[in-house]
Amino acid sequence: MTPILSVAGLEKTFGSVVAARDITIDVPAEQTVGIIGANGAGKTTFVNMVTGHLRPSKGTIRFGDKDITGMASRDITRLGISRSFQVAQIFPSLTVFENMCVAAAIARDADGILRRAFTPLRSGQTVAEAEAAIELFQIGSYREARVATLPQGIRKLLDIAMAVAGWPRILLLDEPTSGISIEEKFGLMDVVMSALKSRRVTILFVEHDMEIIGRYADRVLAFYDGTIIADGPPAEALANERVQTLISGTKLRTEAAHA
Ligand SMILES: Nc1ncnc2c1ncn2[C@@H]1O[C@H](COP(=O)(O)OP(=O)(O)O)[C@@H](O)[C@H]1O
Ligand SMILES: [Mg+2]
Repeated sequence: MTPILSVAGLEKTFGSVVAARDITIDVPAEQTVGIIGANGAGKTTFVNMVTGHLRPSKGTIRFGDKDITGMASRDITRLGISRSFQVAQIFPSLTVFENMCVAAAIARDADGILRRAFTPLRSGQTVAEAEAAIELFQIGSYREARVATLPQGIRKLLDIAMAVAGWPRILLLDEPTSGISIEEKFGLMDVVMSALKSRRVTILFVEHDMEIIGRYADRVLAFYDGTIIADGPPAEALANERVQTLISGTKLRTEAAHA
């Protein structure tokens, strides 16, 4: 079967810095891929290239049969590869429901809705999609809360729910649990992962917490200095000797010891 995402010989340089070199991977549909690596290893650069936020210096990116290398991010999003919104893209003065309507409306008609600034965002289909997403991500009790007042975890859920409004086939999450307390992390990831799986989304997520990786990833890509040094099921990849020595000691070692 054709992989849903196929990356070959991907390279990215910033002046003399090589942020990605010869990244080659195939991702089958509906796989959940955890991306690990120390700060500066090239994880975000990789995510940005796949989503079109950065143009690769070399190599190709295919989404199914389609070559998307160098395409604009909004065109890639429209094809079906999404990423979580940055916090800045949530409207703090609007409620959860209103934010969700904006995302659902934009997802359906990116050009039109922005041009027709006064087009009502509450058409039947928009409302139905917004309500469904709010329920799926279990944020209904915050439906009328202004986003500025939300706890961090709920804000993250809204962020990801908005990224899923256009029914993407692939979703990339760059450190979805950053800023979330250890006690809240698993609850958050349970909601996120079951929501995404129910929509059969292929997931690539960057994560530093190896317990989270072990629990939710089917496969781990370990980045080091712009290359992938291990690629396999979590138990195997996390036990890899280079992964153990090169990807920040303490967290990994303590958590691998629990596994
Ligand atoms: N826009 C940029 N300009 C210059 N260097 C960059 C830029 N983005 C990333 N880098 C460099 O590329 C390398 C990889 O960065 P990044 O992909 O952000 O790593 P990670 O997400 O794994 O922490 C780092 O050395 C970083 O300094
Ligand atoms: Mg990063």
